[in-house]
Amino acid sequence: KEYVPEKVDYVFKVVVIGDSAVGKTQILSRFAKNEFCLESKSTIGVEFQTRTVAIENKVIKAQIWDTAGQERYRAVTTAYYRGALGAMLVYDISRRQSFDSLARWVEELRANSDNSIVIMLIGNKADLAEQRAVPTEDAVEFAKDQGLFFAETSALSGDNVDKAFLQLLEEIY
Ligand code: GTP
Repeated sequence: KEYVPEKVDYVFKVVVIGDSAVGKTQILSRFAKNEFCLESKSTIGVEFQTRTVAIENKVIKAQIWDTAGQERYRAVTTAYYRGALGAMLVYDISRRQSFDSLARWVEELRANSDNSIVIMLIGNKADLAEQRAVPTEDAVEFAKDQGLFFAETSALSGDNVDKAFLQLLEEIY
């Protein structure tokens, strides 16, 4: 069981964005609760989960916001991004369309958040290697062009999920 500290030094708000069904909610559940659900339903509105970690002897509470990828279920954009210090921008390595949408997501993010926001590009569903539709090099190039950090993850297996979140939190710190 995780130690729950009494004193939190910093609260970091992180938003998770990307097309519907790329696995935003499952990545977050994996990081916050070490859980995964195959029959995950589309998010409606906004939800958030937290996890408290230590970085360089400081107690950091990550407050991670998750909203619907589907336009009709999305909450008010400005409120969602307000105060965010970090963003997880997620696509599905087995669905090219979700990668082609990234430019639009980056645009929305830049228009609504602080210039100093730290952005981590996440290629999720890395376990679906046989259905891969987005070569890793394409994502590396996109991340470089846009100045984003990058990782491939699997919320299903848990591969790289903690590592990606912890890297994002360290970069914010
Ligand atoms: P919206 O709420 O509609 O924006 O979707 P979302 O991006 O939050 O996707 P969600 O987390 O609900 O996951 C969508 C589907 O993909 C679910 O059936 C998940 O079980 C599945 N899924 C999520 N992550 C992975 C993964 O790493 N690997 C595999 N194989 N499936 C995954």
